[in-house]
Amino acid sequence: RSVSLIGAPTDIGAGARGASMGPEALRVADLAAALQSHGVDVLDRGNLSGPSNPWLPPVDGYRHLNEVTAWNQTVHDAVYAELKTGRMPILLGGDHCLGLGSISAVARHCRDVGKKLRVLWLDAHADFNTSALTPSGNIHGMPVACLCGFGPQQLIEIGGKVPAISPKWVRQIGIRSVDAGEKRFVNEQELEVFDMRYIDEMGMRHTMELALATLDANTHLHVSFDVDFLDPDIAPGVGTTVPGGPTYREAQLCMEMIADTGFLASLDVMELNPALDLQNKTAKVAVDLIESLFGKSTLMRK
Ligand code: ARG
Ligand code: MN
Ligand code: MN
Ligand code: MN
Repeated sequence: RSVSLIGAPTDIGAGARGASMGPEALRVADLAAALQSHGVDVLDRGNLSGPSNPWLPPVDGYRHLNEVTAWNQTVHDAVYAELKTGRMPILLGGDHCLGLGSISAVARHCRDVGKKLRVLWLDAHADFNTSALTPSGNIHGMPVACLCGFGPQQLIEIGGKVPAISPKWVRQIGIRSVDAGEKRFVNEQELEVFDMRYIDEMGMRHTMELALATLDANTHLHVSFDVDFLDPDIAPGVGTTVPGGPTYREAQLCMEMIADTGFLASLDVMELNPALDLQNKTAKVAVDLIESLFGKSTLMRK
């Protein structure tokens, strides 16, 4: 397997500064070597560039809309080009607004090659706000809505087709913080959400069995991993921690079950904020989990 690391050093869509250092934190935690140790061919494409963060208040419900658009266009182009070469893109965020550029490129690629797309959205948040619903104006709370066609024209059209994806293709896992209006909209659009209540009651194993149930040999599986998915005990280095997330063991099982399908074809690792984590322990946990996504296993067979 061949993967390409693509850094997107920006916090343009976030409510805290520092996710711009995420790509470097993952490199410092030795992501490339960890993947190589599992037989993965790794190419580090370095970092993309884009506008700096002017740190302005929202305008008409959006903060930094033009800068967010520029970054997402650049991410889209890089991810799309990478998929064309046949390598698997791993986007190193950067805040989660960039999931829009990444996944709209993946969706475009799937249209080109006639593949079915499934998106696993691992997150504490649904990221399904619109300008009318958002409490913050931060666009990292909006990428799933934008992908489904609900958002400003300049963002929703980046992948060349509106909407880029159907809500039916998305499975959200680990959700535990959704704004009031956002919750109504999630239900109205019938997003499939495995929230923490569901995981507590049914367990991660059953959750993942359902979330992965409709995959087949023609599926492109995209994982969008917002590091705030994890419990803040193991992953304090994110701007929007929410208590009560998956433990280390639950997160490992989640990643291992994804790896077992054999269909993982693109990945985002988002919202890592090393400014909030002096020991870089969140990046190390993320690297551990990504190893499991690529087949590292504690099983004794073989
Ligand atoms: N729902 C909140 C908002 O819209 C938080 C979003 C957090 N999103 C994230 N990708 N960390 O501002
Ligand atoms: Mn998110
Ligand atoms: Mn989140
Ligand atoms: Mn390791």
